[in-house]
Amino acid sequence: MQWKPEYAIGIAEIDRQHQTLIEFVTEFEDAVAGKVHWNTVQPLIVRAREFVKFHFAVEESLMQIVNYPRLVAHRAEHLYVLKQFAALEHRVLRQEMKAELMPLISAWLVDHMTDSDGPFGRYALGFASASRAA
Ligand SMILES: [Fe+2]
Ligand SMILES: [Fe+2]
Repeated sequence: MQWKPEYAIGIAEIDRQHQTLIEFVTEFEDAVAGKVHWNTVQPLIVRAREFVKFHFAVEESLMQIVNYPRLVAHRAEHLYVLKQFAALEHRVLRQEMKAELMPLISAWLVDHMTDSDGPFGRYALGFASASRAA
């Protein structure tokens, strides 16, 4: 999967981390396509979950700083994704879930980034320009 400029939410550090998420998505695609051995998927999920956990913590800190009104709902989405990743870590050991994997990964990472992080980026940029004007 390729990073597209329209994925940018306008906060440089978050956008860099989202590019890393897209790199993880690409690694998952390669595993599903058989470019790397399926055995590499479980450690890949572990690595992705660790990075995602770090990324979510960064986002939530920023949300706190700018008093983001949807912080509680957004945090709940993050928790849901982390729980799903943890469950997936065990599931892939029991079943070769090639067909299911990409829809899940792209819902948790790509859809969240565009549908939930996007509105936060717009809010944060508005907050920053209002602070400059004050
Ligand atoms: Fe994000
Ligand atoms: Fe998020």
